Amino acid sequence: MLASRDLALAKAPRVDDRRLKALNRIRETVADVQHMSPAQGETIFDFVLEHQPKDCLELGFGHGVSSCYIAGALRVLSQGKLTTVDIDAAKQREPRIEDLVRKLRLGRYVNPIFEPQSYTWFLMRAIERRRQFDFCFIDGAHTWDTDGFAFFLVDRLLRPGGWIVFDDLDWSYSVSPSLKDADWVKAKPEIEQKTKGVRKVFDLLVRRHADYQTHELNGWGYAQKCPSSVPIRMLEVVQENRLQARKAWLN
Ligand SMILES: C[S@@+](CC[C@H](N)C(=O)[O-])C[C@H]1O[C@@H](n2cnc3c(N)ncnc32)[C@H](O)[C@@H]1O
Repeated sequence: MLASRDLALAKAPRVDDRRLKALNRIRETVADVQHMSPAQGETIFDFVLEHQPKDCLELGFGHGVSSCYIAGALRVLSQGKLTTVDIDAAKQREPRIEDLVRKLRLGRYVNPIFEPQSYTWFLMRAIERRRQFDFCFIDGAHTWDTDGFAFFLVDRLLRPGGWIVFDDLDWSYSVSPSLKDADWVKAKPEIEQKTKGVRKVFDLLVRRHADYQTHELNGWGYAQKCPSSVPIRMLEVVQENRLQARKAWLN
């Protein structure tokens, strides 16, 4: 009979094999599809393998490349689910997220949600339903108002110890080759075209938030919610008790 340490060692190469096989299969399938490089894909894939989040959330899936890397890692772990949200217009993309997910047989691990307006509305319903997540990858609007708000909403859904990863810290409309000359972008005030929205969210809201430990690497921002932060449900109970005490005092 193997001791637990030997058992772990015996299992290790198998995980390594499965990791490499899964990564290669995803890389081949998404090779010509936009929005995430193979190196970034490997980063998010390994992040999931390392932290083993069960309930994963993604804001902005585009064609679903990043979704496939996240879900592929969940499949290697044989656990978890990714809920991923984009706007209705993502249904017109070629390929669609469902095409990639089907090719990679990842359907069990991915739930794509198409929102008419914005993921902030999905987040509202998730808060109403008291959903909880262990990990959120934010790669959507990249703007101060949408993603600044999204951060506070995601915070309401994130379990203590959970992670948020922000893509594209230094993106702005004015550095985007495909968007910078678009009429609807030019119609925005110059400050909005030039501001790096995710950078502002990360530096001003996340880094300065008492509940988060942060670091950044290769243009991505990583934020871990303090494992000892008070769970949202408990905060709500405290708030409710305060309200009741106040009412009693006023009467
Ligand atoms: C860069 S793409 C996502 C790429 C994807 N994460 C990947 O790496 O394969 C950004 C996506 O965010 C979506 N998006 C932008 N603002 C949004 C919003 N407010 N609500 C929902 N989706 C949004 C866009 O429709 C677009 O598909």
